[in-house]
Parts: sequence; structure tokens; C-alpha cells
Amino acid sequence: MKIITLEWKNNKIKLIDQTKLPHKLEYLYIDKAKDLWQAIKLLKVRGAPALGAAGALGVYLGIKDAETGSGVIFARELDKASRYIASSRPTARNLFWGIERVRQVAKDNKDNSPATIKKLILEEALRVIASDMDSCRKIGQYGSDLIKDNDAVLTICNAGILATIDYGTALGVLYRAKAEGKRIKVFACETRPLLQGSRLTAWELKNKGIDVTVICDNMAATLMQQGKVNKVIAGADRIAANGDTANKIGTYSLAVLSNYHKIPFYIAAPASTFDLRAASGRGIRIEERGRREISELLFRKEIAPIGVKVFNPAFDVTPNNLISAIVTDKGIIRQPYTKNIKRLINRRGE
Ligand code: MRU
Repeated sequence: MKIITLEWKNNKIKLIDQTKLPHKLEYLYIDKAKDLWQAIKLLKVRGAPALGAAGALGVYLGIKDAETGSGVIFARELDKASRYIASSRPTARNLFWGIERVRQVAKDNKDNSPATIKKLILEEALRVIASDMDSCRKIGQYGSDLIKDNDAVLTICNAGILATIDYGTALGVLYRAKAEGKRIKVFACETRPLLQGSRLTAWELKNKGIDVTVICDNMAATLMQQGKVNKVIAGADRIAANGDTANKIGTYSLAVLSNYHKIPFYIAAPASTFDLRAASGRGIRIEERGRREISELLFRKEIAPIGVKVFNPAFDVTPNNLISAIVTDKGIIRQPYTKNIKRLINRRGE
């Protein structure tokens, strides 16, 4: 089954409602910026590269009905639409990158009519989608060199088809390795609190015929101690100039465990996830989410005393010294990260 996470169809964004998986494969058809904002906030669409495409298209949704008479009013509407979509989630660099890409096109063509700029913004948003498809395949090609026949690989959250347009970053590496005939086993951390690992990663890997086993997040150490995994690969939401990497909460603990057990720990992400303005992980804003994600199981059943305090950071930062390599669409980056990232990734992350 070919899965497309997000596309532009009949003047609407067609996207998989990921909160319904794995039970139902349901699509949302969105033609209003406020509906897209909600979909991002509630993780109906999620994963850094998919958010890049959503951000670019979200700006278009925000200005498509704007007044075209005056350039000044249009420019104001464009700023408002961009700020609005950018306020949906703070951590994934790609969301802002997608927005910046379409804004740059508007800037480069500011002397054209608002009607023309609208058209150019949509065209650029569609290029963001196409470039994600291409980047993920390149990540797959570079990354599959790191995967050997009979590897057992641990992953966290979902950095697959559902986090991108149609292929994935960390899981793209595994899809490519499988296509090259390597036999692989994957262990997916369930990824509390929203279970992207068990709901999404296990769903797509199973669909793709990859041997997948779900574990609770607190079982990773045992898996390594028993020699059941020999590699870890995860995606990224934002990578600082020195290689420090923000990804789903729990990624850092996997990196610490991998180092203790001398297992390679890899990150896979496109250039658009790098934020060279953040010198280190300390410059990355970590989203904190609502209490019900923790005090209830998927908003359905209370699993903590009413009113108990919760702490719910959605991401953590893995220090660069724990990362064996970062697989990008421009090649594999290794230590020393600051120097090698600068060499491979340009300032705007393109
Ligand atoms: O909160 P989410 O589900 O958007 O978090 C997603 C992740 O942490 C992914 O690993 C990351 O965005 C990389 S996706 C290729």
C-alpha cells in the first residue's frame, strides 16, 4: 500500500489524521489556516519534515483569500498568516523553514501583484513537498551504508513515512536497507505519552513488511543488555550548529544507553532540520504540552490522581558527543560536528 502523508489536492491539503491510527486510516481535507493550526497542535499531522510542508502550505491557506488590491495590505496579511502558522508548535525547525521558504519567494517578487505572489507562494510550497520526497530518498541512500545484513535496530517516535511526505528519514534508511536485500529487525519504543512508536511506526513498518517489535520505553536498557539490538537510529526536530539534537523525549536516554552499551547511535534528518543560528542545544526551545497527555491514556482513561502535577516536555536534546553520526540528504556527518556541519549545511538549511 502506498501511503502519502500529506498532499495538495483540489485546492486543499489532504492529510492523514494520525490521531486515528492505527485503528483507522482517515484523511482530513483542510482549506483554512485555522484548521491546519489545530491539526498541527493536536498532532494530526506531525514529524518535522511533514511540518515543513504544512507550514509552507499553511501560509498559502492564510493568504489565499487576502485582498489583492493593495500590496501594503497584502504584505501585512502575509506577515500575519506566517506568524499564525508559526505559533502552532515551537521545536521542529522544518516548520519555520517551510514558512521562510515561501516568504522568501514573496520577498524576491515583492514588485509583482499580490495575485501573482499568491500563485508563486503555492508553487514554492509544492516544491517544498517535492524536495522532501527527494531528501528522504537521499538520506535512505546514504544511511543504508550504515546498516548491515541481520542488524537489529531500535528506534523511537516516528521518523518514517508519517513524519514526512512519503518515505521517512530514520525509517527511510531502513526501507532502503531492506530494498537492498538486507534482513533487518526493528524494535520500536512505544514513545509515551502519545505513542507515536506503537501507533505509527509499528503500523507503517508492518505495512511495509518489516519485522517490527514494540517495546515500552523503559525496556530499552534490557534490550541492549541482552544484546537484542546492535544499532539505534532516530529522527530530529532541530539540530544545532554543534550537532546537539532535539528529538522526541526519550531520545537522549537512548543515546546515553547506547554509549554505555557501545552501540552506535545515529540521527537521520534533512538539511532543513539544521538550525545554524542555535550554537548548541541550549538555544533550542522545547515544547511543553498539556497535562492530559500524561494524566490520561490517550485522553481516554485517567491514569493519575486528579489534580496531580505533571511535567510534559515533548522533546529532549541529545548532546553531540553521544551521536555516532548524523545522516543527512547531503551525506553523513561525523565528529567534529561544528566544523563538518558548517561545511555540509549552509546557513539557511537548504
Ligand atoms: O511530537 P512529534 O510526533 O511531532 O515528534 C516527532 C519526532 O520527534 C520525530 O522523531 C522528528 O520530528 C523527526 S521526523 C522525521
